[in-house]
Amino acid sequence: MPSRKTRVAIIGLGRMGSTIDDEGHTKYPYSIAASTKASPHLELVAGVDIIEEKRTAFTKRWGIEAVYQDFGRMIEVEKPDLVAVCTAACLPKPANSSPGPDHRDDSHADLTVALAKMNIPMLYVEKAMASSMKRADEVLKVVARDDLKFNTGVLRRFDNRYAMVRKAVASGSIGKILSVVHYAPSTLMHGHIHSIDTISFLIGDPTIEAVRGDLLPREASFFGRHIDHDPRAVYQLRFAGNIDAYTVPAGKWEFEVLGSEGCIRLLNNGSLAVLRRENDRGGWKEEPLKTVRLTSPVVRCLEDLVQSRATGQPTKGNVQLTHHITEACIGVAESHLAGGTWVNLPLLDRDLYIFHV
Ligand SMILES: NC(=O)c1ccc[n+]([C@@H]2O[C@H](COP(=O)([O-])OP(=O)(O)OC[C@H]3O[C@@H](n4cnc5c(N)ncnc54)[C@H](O)[C@@H]3O)[C@@H](O)[C@H]2O)c1
Repeated sequence: MPSRKTRVAIIGLGRMGSTIDDEGHTKYPYSIAASTKASPHLELVAGVDIIEEKRTAFTKRWGIEAVYQDFGRMIEVEKPDLVAVCTAACLPKPANSSPGPDHRDDSHADLTVALAKMNIPMLYVEKAMASSMKRADEVLKVVARDDLKFNTGVLRRFDNRYAMVRKAVASGSIGKILSVVHYAPSTLMHGHIHSIDTISFLIGDPTIEAVRGDLLPREASFFGRHIDHDPRAVYQLRFAGNIDAYTVPAGKWEFEVLGSEGCIRLLNNGSLAVLRRENDRGGWKEEPLKTVRLTSPVVRCLEDLVQSRATGQPTKGNVQLTHHITEACIGVAESHLAGGTWVNLPLLDRDLYIFHV
């Protein structure tokens, strides 16, 4: 790690930027502000929000006087090394649907493109990176430079318990990978961007060749190339190497990787991992699996940007990978609009907009 601390600024001083730690999801630092304060390599220097009370609360809580309404001015004055984009994606909350068919706001894509053009060296961007493939393509184009490091908030990719399972799968402990299953009801852009990313991560990020899926409820109608709210969804993914993945819209955020000689199930949102291997009667027997104690995925994600900048290596959630996962996610909606058939990646049409926050 470099000897000088990395100067971090946050755009969007709401839950993910500043206050989510109060909700008790985890005892490890979760907001960008708390995670920055917890790292010896990072220094919190500024915050930006369009709402004055959020700026005032941020100053009071984190002792940061440098707060701004305008992010351009903040960059000019503070010259941060790393900017975290923590705004809601398509409209500030509490909006949860699009005001009309021509609405195409896309805060994550807009800010990413603007910040990349201002030569910010490191970006953390909340998911999804964009609300259409057209905007994701634009982000890919401006971010895909060796001197710009990029990660998004798909945090299981930075969770050391999930990394331990990825390692066990890669070491051949369950034989040849056959299928992956995710369990939990979820919306497409807010939730399944995480589930698809995690499935891909667990099996070493092979190419996703095709997807199929349904938006729920199945009888709901969607018109044109604009989906005005973030729909619940189910999907099937086909990865290179004939690996299929499925989501089951029930249960509580669990994942199972099934191979030719065994399987690993991550229970209860990653809190326990169970390895089962074939016994001599054709069933499963449980075997010990090395476990690790969770450390903050957000700290790891931010430090990954710094490490990657220092070494020149790609980040763990680099923009090419994030673009590919976003394409699979939007592909689920394309499949639904095409009657639930398989659609190949890359998608032919890039203009489908899916509202989400
Ligand atoms: N990765 C995760 O685990 C995780 C957890 C929570 C939220 N999120 C994501 O973080 C994003 C924000 O969610 P939240 O729950 O923190 O929302 P929030 O509404 O609590 O905070 C967003 C803040 O951004 C501000 N804002 C909006 N537009 C702005 C702009 N153009 N410039 C400056 N400030 C602006 C709003 O005033 C608000 O204070 C969403 O995309 C959400 O999906 C991710």
